[in-house]
Amino acid sequence: MLVLASLLALCAAAPADSTCPQINQRDQDLEILPKYPLDPEKFITPIYIWGPSSQLQGLREAIGVAIRLNRTLLLPPFLTHSSDPLGNDQPVPTDIRLDIPKLRKLVSIAFTDDLRCLQSDAVFLARGIYNKPTDPAVMVERVKRIENFEKAAHMKVLRRTDDDEVCTVLEKTGSKGLALALARFILQTNAFLTGATQKHSALYVSTPPSEAEKMRSIVLSAKSILENEGWSLDVVTTTDTQEFLDENYGDCEMMQYKSEVLSLVEQELTYRGDYFIFSELSGWSANVRKERIMEDKYFYEMSVIKLIEDFGPFSSNFTTSTSLRTSSSTLR
Ligand SMILES: *[C@@H]1O[C@H](CO)[C@@H](O)[C@H](O)[C@H]1NC(C)=O
Ligand SMILES: *[C@@H]1O[C@H](CO)[C@@H](O)[C@H](O)[C@H]1NC(C)=O
Repeated sequence: MLVLASLLALCAAAPADSTCPQINQRDQDLEILPKYPLDPEKFITPIYIWGPSSQLQGLREAIGVAIRLNRTLLLPPFLTHSSDPLGNDQPVPTDIRLDIPKLRKLVSIAFTDDLRCLQSDAVFLARGIYNKPTDPAVMVERVKRIENFEKAAHMKVLRRTDDDEVCTVLEKTGSKGLALALARFILQTNAFLTGATQKHSALYVSTPPSEAEKMRSIVLSAKSILENEGWSLDVVTTTDTQEFLDENYGDCEMMQYKSEVLSLVEQELTYRGDYFIFSELSGWSANVRKERIMEDKYFYEMSVIKLIEDFGPFSSNFTTSTSLRTSSSTLR
C-alpha cells in the first residue's frame, strides 16, 4: 500500500514515461527458456470465476493444468471486481496483476490479445456450472462470466466451425429437432426399454409446470416418429403426476405444499430411472445426478445438449442414418 502511494506520488510529479512503473513487460526476456517449456502450437486458456483473488487462484490451477497437458498458457485479461467503479467484469490487462517476466521463467506463455484464430476447439469444465445447485444466481453468474470472458478476450468459447456454434445449434434445433433427437436416441441405443416387449420404451418427462405443455408436445411428436419405425413409447409427464397426487393425496396435509411435493416426487422418480437425460443448467437435475452417482448410475445419463449434438438434425453423422431420413425431411 505504501509503495503504491509513493509510486503514485512520483507519477504525479514527473513525466509519465520516465518514472512510472512500466506495466507492460511482455517483450522482456522473450528468449528465456522456462522451467517448464510447453508445446508452442497448442494452447490452453482459463476462464476465471468470481473476484480478483479467485481469479488468481484460477490462474494457479491453470498453470498446473497447462504443464500437465503440455500446452502453452494463454493469458486472458483479468476481470474487475463487482465493486469496481469501472463496473463489474470489465477487462483488466493481465500485466497489472502479474509479473510477466517472472511467469515466463516458469512456463511458456502467450496472450489472448495476440490471438489470430479466435476459436477454441475444446472446453474443459474445471468446476461444473452446476456446482451450487441451491442457488440459481450462481449458474446465471457463471454463464454470464463466460460471455464477459468472450468480450474481454475477444475470443469465442464453444465454437465448432465458423457459424456452427453450440448455442446456434440449440436455437436452430427447436422443438422438432429435439423430438427427432430423442427418437433417434431411443432407436439407436435401445434406451428406456421396459423389458415387457421388444421395441417398447417408457419415458418419464419432468418439467417446470410452465413448460409442461411444450415438453409434452415434443415428446408426443417423438412418440409418433417412433411409431412410424414400429416402436412404441409410453410417456408419463409432470401433469400426470400432478393429477395422480391430486386424486390420491388431495386431502393430505402435505398438499398445502403442492409444488414442493410434486418436485420431490419427481426427483425420486428420476433418481430411480434406469437412464437420465438431464439439463446441464438445472440445479434440480444436478441434485438428482448427485444421488444417482451415489448409486453407481454415473454412466447412465446424458445432457440434453449432448443428446441434441449427437442425435439432433445438426449432428455430424446425421445423413448417414437412413432409418430416419424421411421423418427428418418431413420435420424440417
Ligand atoms: C512438452 O513437449 C515437448 C515436446 O514434446 C517437450 O520437449 C517438453 O519437455 C514438454 N513439456 C512438459 C512440461 O512436459
Ligand atoms: C456418430 O458416429 C459416431 C462414430 O461413428 C458414433 O459413435 C455415434 O454413435 C454416431 N451418432 C449417431 C447419432 O449416429
